[in-house]
Formats: sequence, C-alpha cells, structure tokens
Amino acid sequence: MAKAPKILILNGPNLNMLGTRQPEVYGTATLADIEAACEQRARDLGLAAECRQSNSEGELVGWIQAARDQVQAVIINPGAYSHTSVAILDALLAVDLPVVEVHLSNIHRREEFRHHSYVSKAAQGVICGFGPRGYIMALEALAAQLIESQET
Ligand code: DQA
Repeated sequence: MAKAPKILILNGPNLNMLGTRQPEVYGTATLADIEAACEQRARDLGLAAECRQSNSEGELVGWIQAARDQVQAVIINPGAYSHTSVAILDALLAVDLPVVEVHLSNIHRREEFRHHSYVSKAAQGVICGFGPRGYIMALEALAAQLIESQET
C-alpha cells in the first residue's frame, strides 16, 4: 500500500495554553484535544498528521525548513507570529509546499493589529473563526486536493 501523505500541523506561541487561555476567545479545547482530533481525522482521510507546537520563532522556522521533501503540506496556526514574522513567511515560501493558515478566532473581528498576517502571503488558503474545527477543515481541503492531484 502507498504511504499516507504526511501533513505537518504547526502551532505557534501560547497555543500550548489552550483550554485555560482566554476561553471566551479560544474555547475550552486543549491543544492535546485538537491534536488528537486532527490525528484521528487525518487517519480517516488516509493522511498522516504530525503535530508540533513551539513558543519559539526559530524553532518553528527550523521545523518548516526540515519539512521540505518530508511532508506534502503544512497547516499552521502561527499565533501572534502571524502578525510579526517575516522569518516564518520566508521559511514557508522557501519550502514551496501547500500551506493552510488556521486561526481559532476570527482575527478580522478583533484588534486592528491582528488583521494583517505576514504568513497569509505564503498560504494557499486561510481559515479563521471556526475554533478547533478550522484545523479539521484544513485537513479536509488538503485531502481533497491531494486526491485530485493524484488523479490528474
Ligand atoms: C490566533 C490569533 C492571534 O492573533 C493570536 O495571537 C493567537 C491565536 C488564533 O488562533 O485565533 O495566539 O492565531
């Protein structure tokens, strides 16, 4: 049987605090809950999910660089680095993989400084405002796309 396409799911700073962090904004699911749901949905879709979280910009950049030739797509919630990090944008552009940017909250309904994301420039699509479901939506979109590309 062919190896399942691998999706790297990255979460940035403070997302390890989910569950207790501003539940009125981010909900009550923990990062472990979200990662378990992603791994399960990925398996159901015939994909393999590798989930990682870091509070460090450099570590995220390192993981993105290492993903080249190792995974078929990246799902990333860069947290606050979305709004500041040209380094994460450049790393994503360098590896040239399909990228889906996910935010739990609708960043466009929030403070002005959250409205701009550098990372969006490297993203094929952006999903925000659907809470943890956003990661599942991203997996489903990528699975459909990977299947289509195998057929053509
Ligand atoms: C976030 C939105 C960011 O503005 C914020 O800094 C986060 C989480 C979200 O998932 O809604 O840490 O990326």
